[in-house]
Amino acid sequence: MTADELKIAVARAALPHVIPGDLLGVGTGSTANHFIDLLAAEKIEIAGAIASSEASAARLRGHGIKVLTLDEAIASGRRIPVYVNGADEIDPGLNLIKGGGGALTREKIVAAASDCFVCIADSSKCVNMLGRFPLPIEVVPMALGLVARELAKLGGVPKLREGFVTDNGNLILDVAGLKIAEPALFESELDHLTGTVTNGLFARRRADLALVSSADGVRALHA
Ligand code: 5RP
Repeated sequence: MTADELKIAVARAALPHVIPGDLLGVGTGSTANHFIDLLAAEKIEIAGAIASSEASAARLRGHGIKVLTLDEAIASGRRIPVYVNGADEIDPGLNLIKGGGGALTREKIVAAASDCFVCIADSSKCVNMLGRFPLPIEVVPMALGLVARELAKLGGVPKLREGFVTDNGNLILDVAGLKIAEPALFESELDHLTGTVTNGLFARRRADLALVSSADGVRALHA
């Protein structure tokens, strides 16, 4: 199977987790894009989607799917029972690295607002310890040098993602060289670096369920 076929297979496996008539959190990236396309193709009627990026919102609208802001969803008094999104790395505890597509801040916000986070990925994303994929960190532009210096002190090798500005008007540092043995602890430590908006560790709010595709089929991993 090609990489794209594996992404389509796992995106399809997420469809039964969508609750018709309810709100749905929708992620960002190529796997999430397949999920959006399948959601539309299967004509699953939802009350509306809360998107984790402008790109996903545009794709959803392009299919005629209603998109709500998070504030509109909260004002409606409805819950977001399910959130479907991809990942760059998944460890056995369902801690994640996300942000390869640069949407980490909104992705983390939608994760925090949702009851069940269903992560969809192919098996190449599974690792024993997070850190092989450079950890994305969204940084306020003025603080770039300061944050990069502090990250180097923590043993990382930060690199500016050239030519990229987030939906929130900020920059991304991709940090290589990290071996993240205690993801939740390290996530908190990074949260305390002044000038960072969000780091791409999803450990304190990890996935509840990971669907992982390989040539053998789709496996479900529970937290
Ligand atoms: C976007 C993300 C994506 O979920 C992650 O990069 C995986 O993307 P893809 O499905 O294209 O492999 O975190 O910020």
